[in-house]
Amino acid sequence: MHTAPSTRAPRPHSTARKHADTEPRSDTESLPDAVPVELTVNGTHHALRVEPWTSLLDLLREQLQLTGTKKGCDHGQCGACTVLVNGTRINACLALAVSHDGADVTTVEGLAQDGALHPVQQAFIEHDAFQCGYCTPGQVCSAVGLLAEGHAQCRDDVREQMSGNLCRCGAYVNIANAVEAVRRVECLRNREGDDV
Ligand code: FES
Ligand code: FES
Repeated sequence: MHTAPSTRAPRPHSTARKHADTEPRSDTESLPDAVPVELTVNGTHHALRVEPWTSLLDLLREQLQLTGTKKGCDHGQCGACTVLVNGTRINACLALAVSHDGADVTTVEGLAQDGALHPVQQAFIEHDAFQCGYCTPGQVCSAVGLLAEGHAQCRDDVREQMSGNLCRCGAYVNIANAVEAVRRVECLRNREGDDV
């Protein structure tokens, strides 16, 4: 059953790097195959132990309790698990946690800053870009990654470059509108910056 959208209550985090006293869960301590992995997630450094076959998605959800990132297909088909790794959007269900040792990971919980929603999150609310909300964290993270890539020049580009993020509720029109709105604002801002 789908759960509530994570755009409702993202947790702000400081840009300053923090160290979590994240202790490996007791069940991982007893796993003989567990290996060490270090990640900075939403600005907080974590030293963890995981089994080599643990996906980044399972590490985030089950070990760090960051359940904003959703598991849909678990096969790279739906985009519900999209997170940013070193600023690049990826499907966390297809990524082995150990292969991203040392990486900087941003989940939907880390997008808001100083209590203010990320512009993409705000746009999703203003454009009513979700229904059940299950796909929303992945859509929002994917949109943030898309905007950082800078390849989208129009709404059709946004639609195409968001095509890996499925929405079973069919909120595609409003999702594209939300992302396009932020893209246009960023485009205008960049032009004004160039004119200065
Ligand atoms: S859960 Fe990762 S792509 Fe579907
Ligand atoms: S809002 Fe329900 S799956 Fe997208």
